This record gives sequence, structure tokens and C-alpha cells, in this order.
Amino acid sequence: MEIHHLDVENELTLFLDQQIAYYKEKLSGECANYIPELKVVNPDYLAFSLMLPNGKVHLQGDYHVPFTLQSISKVITFMAACLYNGTSNVLEWVDVEPTGDPFNSLLRFELNENKKPFNPMINAGAITVASLLSGLTPMDKIQSVTRLLSSLLDKDVTINQKVFESEWETAYRNRALANFLMENNLLASSVDDTLFTYINLCSIEITVEDLAKIGLILSLDGFDPIRRIQLIPPPIARLTKVLMFTCGMYNSSGKFAAFVGIPAKSGVSGGILGVVPPSLRSHPLLSDGCGIGIYGPAIDTHGNSVKGVRLLEDFLQLYDVKIF
Ligand code: DON
Repeated sequence: MEIHHLDVENELTLFLDQQIAYYKEKLSGECANYIPELKVVNPDYLAFSLMLPNGKVHLQGDYHVPFTLQSISKVITFMAACLYNGTSNVLEWVDVEPTGDPFNSLLRFELNENKKPFNPMINAGAITVASLLSGLTPMDKIQSVTRLLSSLLDKDVTINQKVFESEWETAYRNRALANFLMENNLLASSVDDTLFTYINLCSIEITVEDLAKIGLILSLDGFDPIRRIQLIPPPIARLTKVLMFTCGMYNSSGKFAAFVGIPAKSGVSGGILGVVPPSLRSHPLLSDGCGIGIYGPAIDTHGNSVKGVRLLEDFLQLYDVKIF
């Protein structure tokens, strides 16, 4: 089917304008309150970005507002650790099972005989994975992730120091998790070094356009269609998508998979990284795959963007996208 790009573009602009205005008016909510610097962000922001394999980008809403990756960094950290250690070695330290528990839960350490963290997308798993990154010092480990992210985005990335300090000073629960992990020989670097690494990675600054680009590369199994380079080995990219699909939206991952229907990863700053794999069934606009970036800092009790999840669901419904 021939696609009339201008018509599609206009239809999408109108649709998103309407939905963004509606959610801004109708849905309220609060920003993450346990990281003081995130609490003061305007909860009304809502932004959308789509990137197609031909390089076309669609940006709408508050797309100029940068925000920190928070848990979306777990996706990049996992890939960097697999690239350095080999995936099977990383999986000796962390499992690939969804939990059904909140992202920062301590519960499983007391209940589970096998104390290995359930998956790399929850805090416990990501803290373990952060300790496995390449390099001896936290700075080296942080750089191994920012280097990978820079190679995906083809630009330098920065860390938001204010957000870092704000989380570092209040990371009581993550400190507890890191201590449990250390007690069970599940950290390859000290508690302080690992937390320093992990919290810096959460504080990397990004935009929805950047998220859409990462999503596009993941959608094509690690291949950047614009520069035509394979940036991540396909098996690592595929496993990462499986983890996003099964564990990326925390204890609402099941509902998200059932009713939104694509691999995605959220962060408490309100970002969502979405991956639409190529599919014969999709609308011609999206049949070659695409990446999606969403930002809406008001979050629900699971830590997912309230308006962002709805906007993503609406967009995917408009084009009848679901991976199954
Ligand atoms: O470790 C934390 O609690 C935060 N830096 C990140 C958590 C997060 O983003 C969970 N997401 N929805």
C-alpha cells in the first residue's frame, strides 16, 4: 500500500494534539516524591516522539523538556554489561523472571531461597548488573554505559548532577537493597561504589527524541538504519526486548503487555521507551518498525507515567499495533 506521508503526518499531528490536550486537562497526578529533585517538576508536561527507519522523526507536546533516564537506564546498563561480560555470565548473577512486586521491593530477599535478583529491570537486579560493568572504578563503569549510549545516539550525553545528588542523599531503600545483595555475594564492587554507579546512571539526561532513537535501534535488533551500522549484537538486543516486555513496566508489566502490547521501559521521572518491532500486520507507516519516546512526569503507584501510558496506548490503537 502506498503511504501518503503528508496525510498520515497531518492525521497523527491532529490526533496527538487532541489527546495531549485531553490528558493534560483530565488526568492529574504527582511526580515521584522520594527523589526531591523529581518532585518539583511540572506534572503537566506531556511529550511524544516517534522515529521511523527512514530517519523521519515526529515530535509533539513538551518534547523540548529534558529529563533523567531513571529506570530506563537499566536497559542500557544491561546491554553494556552483556557486551562486556557475555550474556551467560551476567545471567549467573541475575535471573530473567518477572516479580509482580514493586520495583524497589526487598521482599524477595527474605522469601526466596535462591537470592539472585529476579531480573535486571528491577532495582535489585540493576544494582547487581551495575557492579558487573567494565572498569575498576565507578567512573569507568559509568563511562562504559555513557559510551554505549553515546554510540546509540551519536552524540555526547550528560549526567544531571542535581538529580544525582538529590537521589544519593535519599537513597535509603537502594542502600538497603545493595546491602542485602552484598550480604548474598551478589555485588562485584563495594556497596558505595555500586550505588554511586547505579544512581549516576539513573541521572543521565535525555529527551523523548533520544528515547525514540534507542527504541528504533532496538526494534531493528541493534541495527541503526540511518547510519547503517550494527551497534548491538542481535541476541543481546532481542533478550533486552524480552525483558522489557515481561518486566519493563514493573508490577503492571502483565497488564501493559496485554493491553498496550509492545516492549517498553518506564522510569520514575516519567519517561517511557517504546519499541515497535517490524510487522506485516501493522499500518504501513509502522510496518518497518519504529521507536517511541514518551514523557509525562506524573506517575502512578507502579512508577509508570499516568498520562504517558494512556498516550502510548492511544497511539498504538490508532495504528492497530500489537506484537501478537
Ligand atoms: O532507583 C530508583 O529508585 C530510581 N533511581 C529509579 C527507579 C525507577 O525509575 C522505577 N521506575 N519506574
